[in-house]
Amino acid sequence: MNPDLQKLQPYPFEKLNALKAGSQSGTGQSAREDHIALSIGEPKHAAPGFVLDSITRNLGQINRYPLTRGITELREAIANWLTRRFNLSDNILDPERHILPVTGTREALFSFAQSMIDHNEEALILMPNPFYQIYEGAAFLAGATPCFYNTIKENNYLPDFDAIEADTWRRCRIIYICTPGNPTGSVISRQQLIRLIELSLEYDFIIASDECYSEIYFDEGSPPVGLLEASEEMGNTTLKNCIVFHSLSKRSNLPGMRSGFVAGDEEIIRSYLQYRTYHGCAMPPVHQTASIEAWNDETHVRHNRTLYIKKFKAVIDILSPVIDVSLPDAGFYIWLNTPIDDEIFTKDLFFQQNVTVLPGSYLSRKSDGINPGENHIRMALVAPLDECITAADRIKQYIQTLN
Ligand SMILES: Cc1ncc(COP(=O)(O)O)c(C=O)c1O
Repeated sequence: MNPDLQKLQPYPFEKLNALKAGSQSGTGQSAREDHIALSIGEPKHAAPGFVLDSITRNLGQINRYPLTRGITELREAIANWLTRRFNLSDNILDPERHILPVTGTREALFSFAQSMIDHNEEALILMPNPFYQIYEGAAFLAGATPCFYNTIKENNYLPDFDAIEADTWRRCRIIYICTPGNPTGSVISRQQLIRLIELSLEYDFIIASDECYSEIYFDEGSPPVGLLEASEEMGNTTLKNCIVFHSLSKRSNLPGMRSGFVAGDEEIIRSYLQYRTYHGCAMPPVHQTASIEAWNDETHVRHNRTLYIKKFKAVIDILSPVIDVSLPDAGFYIWLNTPIDDEIFTKDLFFQQNVTVLPGSYLSRKSDGINPGENHIRMALVAPLDECITAADRIKQYIQTLN
């Protein structure tokens, strides 16, 4: 066995199941019958019909092996989307050199570290805390050491890159950033991204920017900024050390299609393609064709945002009289600071109101003397509007019992 497997932590949902096992739902005071899960971050809105049509129309492609680097038309559609969405100059992205389709960002975030790290515990992979747990597992199995940077309320849940010591940057091989953040919803600003790119050029580490929530935001006039546009803006037009990860899972409600891409620094993309040829996760041809249609259309993405806005408004209206809650910068999570321990909050809420949320401490580790997930819960507003409203009403009732 690979001894590094021992280092992998149970996934947050395993811990959640164990926590709930001791508590019989809906048997508390109010004996709620219908369970509502706000715990899992799986999009639930309908997948776009034209993508499903494309899949049925092209099923015949199933008799072909896919190319690891994907068909040219897909890479072109992705480069055009990135250029439009992040206001890049036309000459920044070459679909032949800068783009690689992946089967969802999860496998890519994981396999990327395997291909870039030279198995050495001295090597650090930096990641936000709280975080998407794949980053940590990727670091362990790449033989590197995960190193957390806390994103805390006092800092609007944003990283402070200048607070990280020079020695840490010297050992850093990859830094994962997540913007918009899961679970915090915070968007890293253009200035902060530029500062991070400066640091990456000075100390020569890779920035792996997980931007899979970038298309769920609430002000049509100010979409979240991305790493590639910050890179062009500061004059790093070759995108050196910069790699972004995007996906159709949240943008287009297609989590089961496993369609995403990585883009950026051409040298890194070339090595990662070589790795992926052996890794063997090429996107099925029929999904490649359907993905082209999805990346080329923004109407369904705008519609998707309107559904989330309605849910956020309704839930915040209900909760704000009893707890400090506000609209995040982006994404579909509310990262709520709880008045009591997050595990107790989660367990009692489940027991009394039959609503499941995720304890924040299951998404974080103790670092620099604090665990930044403690006393927080993550609520995913993925269920339909009426269910989100019912859940918010029940959470409000539960919070009122705490006062
Ligand atoms: C922060 C973050 N990154 C990546 C992923 C993986 O998404 P996918 O593999 O569907 O693109 C998720 C899924 O929940 C996520 O929350």
